[in-house]
Amino acid sequence: SFDYAAHLKSAIRTVPDWPQPGVMFRDITPLLQTPRTFRLLIDVFVHRYMDADVDLIAGLDARGFIIGSVLAYELNLGFVPIRKKGKLPFTTVAEEYELEYGNATVEMHTDACRAGDRVVLVDDLVATGGTMMAGYKLLQKLGAEVVEAAAIIELPELKGGELIRTAGLPLYTVCSFD
Ligand code: PRP
Ligand code: HPA
Repeated sequence: SFDYAAHLKSAIRTVPDWPQPGVMFRDITPLLQTPRTFRLLIDVFVHRYMDADVDLIAGLDARGFIIGSVLAYELNLGFVPIRKKGKLPFTTVAEEYELEYGNATVEMHTDACRAGDRVVLVDDLVATGGTMMAGYKLLQKLGAEVVEAAAIIELPELKGGELIRTAGLPLYTVCSFD
């Protein structure tokens, strides 16, 4: 049978020492640029969630928007952006999270979902898990039921997947890089 996860993984480019020395940056732009792998990726997510009774797709700024919006369109669902601080014009809920150096904040509009909505939360990659956890907390503040978090890539070494799953949020990722 066709190993779609291995095929998608092979379309991800590793850029050594970016954005700083010692970092192996996993770059999804080749996967997105090639029609067959972009379509395959979206189809994998569509098939995972098409019968999961999902109400809404939420995507994390910025690469979660690329995947999340296309997934929402294909599932005939609405899309909600969870943005970096200061970008959303209406009333927001906010959640601070830790970066390697310092802090960051993500925000979501207060009317972006309703209590009880079943939401899938999407990003491209889980490293420390801080970004995904911040998005999860925002959705919980509005009473959403987060069905699953989904990403293309997980970096197990940084234990983000462990953090997310231990918090009680199921996490689906297509591939891992050690
Ligand atoms: C990257 C990536 C995830 C996050 C993962 O985004 O796209 O959103 O970091 O890291 P974490 O699991 O340690 O939180 P980045 O913050 O670089 O923002 P960008 O998408 O705007 O480039
Ligand atoms: N690739 C993309 N985004 C990231 C990475 C990476 O390797 N590490 C942390 N955020």
